[in-house]
Amino acid sequence: MRFVSLLGLFAATINAAAVTRPCSNIPAPHLPGARILSVSSTELRNHSVQAAPPLLNKNITNLNICEVVVTLTHPGANDTVTVQVWLPLDGAWTGRFASAGGSGWAAGHGPLTLAPLVADGYAAASTDAGLTGDIITPAAWALKPDGTVNLDLLTNFASRSVHDMAVVGKAVTASFYGRPARYSYWTGCSTGGRQGMAAAQKYPGDFDGILAGAPAIYWTEYVVAELWPQVVMKEAGYFPSACEFAAVRDDVVAVCDELDGVKDGVVSNLARCRYDPSRLVGKTITCEGEDDVTFTTTTASIVRKIWDGPKTPSGSSIWYGLPIDAPFASLAATVLVGNTTTTRTGAPFFVADTWSRYFVKANPAFDPSTLTRPTLHSLFAESVSKFSTLIDSSSPDLAPFQKAGGKLLVWHGTSDPLIFPQDTVRYRRAVEAATRADANVDDFFRVFLAPGTDHCGQGTIAGVAPPTDALGALVGWVERGRAPDVLEAATLPGAEPGFTRRLCRFPLVAEWDGRGDAGLGESWRCVREC
Ligand SMILES: *[C@@H]1O[C@H](CO)[C@@H](O)[C@H](O)[C@H]1NC(C)=O
Ligand SMILES: *[C@@H]1O[C@H](CO)[C@@H](O)[C@H](O)[C@H]1NC(C)=O
Ligand SMILES: *[C@@H]1O[C@H](CO)[C@@H](O)[C@H](O)[C@H]1NC(C)=O
Ligand SMILES: *[C@@H]1O[C@H](CO)[C@@H](O)[C@H](O)[C@H]1NC(C)=O
Repeated sequence: MRFVSLLGLFAATINAAAVTRPCSNIPAPHLPGARILSVSSTELRNHSVQAAPPLLNKNITNLNICEVVVTLTHPGANDTVTVQVWLPLDGAWTGRFASAGGSGWAAGHGPLTLAPLVADGYAAASTDAGLTGDIITPAAWALKPDGTVNLDLLTNFASRSVHDMAVVGKAVTASFYGRPARYSYWTGCSTGGRQGMAAAQKYPGDFDGILAGAPAIYWTEYVVAELWPQVVMKEAGYFPSACEFAAVRDDVVAVCDELDGVKDGVVSNLARCRYDPSRLVGKTITCEGEDDVTFTTTTASIVRKIWDGPKTPSGSSIWYGLPIDAPFASLAATVLVGNTTTTRTGAPFFVADTWSRYFVKANPAFDPSTLTRPTLHSLFAESVSKFSTLIDSSSPDLAPFQKAGGKLLVWHGTSDPLIFPQDTVRYRRAVEAATRADANVDDFFRVFLAPGTDHCGQGTIAGVAPPTDALGALVGWVERGRAPDVLEAATLPGAEPGFTRRLCRFPLVAEWDGRGDAGLGESWRCVREC
């Protein structure tokens, strides 16, 4: 006890002794392979950042920070990349640096991701990678004036900006505080998860700890596979309504929820859930404001194929399908045609749509809703052969990262309707196969699956329970050697029912102990899947 508090005192003394440079006087950092264009800085007192769900769920107020904005370019690339660094003032810095990732087509979200980090005492950085920051479409930057893919900007988006931000962010942090950060972290989900995986694989010395949620690891594969539900519906000549699909998802949960002994809207162990959508055939599906629909064998067949995943014309499997308890709403979206009330057509998911148009085909007029089984198969092959090396973050060789002492913590919702959780399991298996037999993958790379949880825990379905402090768990692992066996998780504010849970370290799954309050994480234990 006494020893610990003495250490604390010692650390506090070091903190107080650090010489902080004036915020107005931050020198240009040195970044090999790039030219710094500008450095500007401003002291912000009592600064607020407004909530913007799902990226930031609460207002963050009373921040006191030095904001440093660095712009840079890569010679020959015709890019201007902005790195924004927020540095806590008044001794609030914990000695940690963190880079925050983006989502969709955005490499970063600036204040929305910086605010919670600096509120926790991190020096934090975010970058636009020289792109527009538009999450939904890369239309403004994907193609050069001559119509070819802008490979420089795609490279920035894929991985280069992750390293640039680490170098610039750490240099600015060290200049301001008069000493380097003691620990550095990556944190992100979705695209941000992919960026973290790219860092572990391509820049293994950049971060001590990497938190990657729902990582888009196999980008060139799964993004095209996301178009499969559209092909299935087109092939069947029928486009079910969102109401019909929702009825299927609700029925899956109704049938499989209690296999774990607890009725909470969550299928804890999907492997045990055997569900056949033909049980709905003949049922009347009713939704407010819509005509009643009778569920048919056609719809049951569409659902089965969507779950099965994309197939070649001869029936061999190309990639994974939608998890059976995931919402269909994004990948199997349909819209009414013109002013009709019953005739629908498909609406391909925006990331898959724009990736195919602007990058794989380099043709903004390409329409993914015209795809058929054979053309989807060739699009998949083309996507992989053209861009896998550039943007996939699927190299299973984590030996350099391991050797550098890095820790990689990945979590993924098992009901993720956009990035398939099977991808994360596939990658983990690939790392196990590629890692020396005398090494234990869990020493440097742990995966936690979150049952009933959607993409990055956004809360589009009931029962979503993402980890409450995965970054804190990673910090404990990196700085105190406390490798997490479980991640504490909780439903989102206002969820009904609300509960806490424990996410188990893959490949274990959580099982209720049969005695305690099932709404509390402590009543769940991690067991081997049977
Ligand atoms: C800080 O800002 C809030 C508004 O966000 C304001 O209400 C408050 O008075 C400010 N406090 C100080 C000390 O300036
Ligand atoms: C954030 O603050 C605004 C007022 O500035 C308020 O209207 C809003 O409800 C707050 N949001 C949350 C999530 O607290
Ligand atoms: C460089 O990028 C700008 C847009 O940022 C564009 O207007 C210009 O045409 C580009 N130049 C070349 C040579 O690609
Ligand atoms: C749909 O719109 C067309 C004109 O665009 C019109 O001729 C037709 O009557 C409309 N149909 C219905 C059902 O409103």
